[in-house]
Amino acid sequence: MLFRNKKSVPELDKRNIPAHIAVIMDGNGRWAQKRGLPRTAGHSAGSETFQRVAEYLSDLGVQYFTVYAFSTENWKRPPEEVGEIMRLLEKYLHKAIREMRERNIRLRFFGDLSPLSDGMKALIEEANAISETTSGMLVNVCLNYGGRAELTRAARLIAEDCKAGKLSPEDITEDMISRRLYSNGIPDPDLMIRPGGEVRLSNFLLWQNAYTEFYFTDVLWPDMDERQFDLAIAAFQQRKRRYGGI
Ligand code: IPE
Ligand code: IPE
Ligand code: MG
Repeated sequence: MLFRNKKSVPELDKRNIPAHIAVIMDGNGRWAQKRGLPRTAGHSAGSETFQRVAEYLSDLGVQYFTVYAFSTENWKRPPEEVGEIMRLLEKYLHKAIREMRERNIRLRFFGDLSPLSDGMKALIEEANAISETTSGMLVNVCLNYGGRAELTRAARLIAEDCKAGKLSPEDITEDMISRRLYSNGIPDPDLMIRPGGEVRLSNFLLWQNAYTEFYFTDVLWPDMDERQFDLAIAAFQQRKRRYGGI
């Protein structure tokens, strides 16, 4: 009999790779503090992790990768930290725009982008335009995103249609709400991973996560690697998804 180390990763079933993985990239600040570094060093390490993981998941055949990069609540942080996170996002976008075609990835942004700098908005537009020409894994970056804000926006859009006489309240369906979310046209996440030790949603994809499988780990985001993702996907492959059935 083969002796298997408790921590070894089971072989992944290549026919059951989750089509859509969502991640709350949490634990950057603590990762840095543990090393006596400023929190911003954790965000920088976290950005590297994001790029490595995206490449790995694309190779695995994941079709949609949705990451929580900055929440509607993260504005409460000191302005220097917010500024550094935005600077890192901008740096990533510059690099992504150069490499998207070669790596064959698409980018999309979930959230209210109106308070972002003009420079950032221009980069996002450029990334969106390139995404029309590429066909690979779609990376959804949640930026100034909150699940409640997203649902409030959908409610306003529907109310406007009612006011304009295009829709009656009794005809509103779940599908009409889904189509007014940032994730319009994208299937719900199959697997949601939260590193960093907190066991909560923190306002992430409240509607879309209705039947998502959750995986929580104490590993801090900058320490997440291919093996940690294999462990999460292996756990997902053990789950029985019933959607309320038997
Ligand atoms: C997640 O890491 C990154 C963002 C929220 C932008 P944190 O900065 O929340 O790290 P911790 O949770 O304080 O360790
Ligand atoms: C969630 O992490 C937001 C992102 C990772 C972008 P937070 O660190 O902001 O969440 P809380 O404050 O622990 O709930
Ligand atoms: Mg955090």
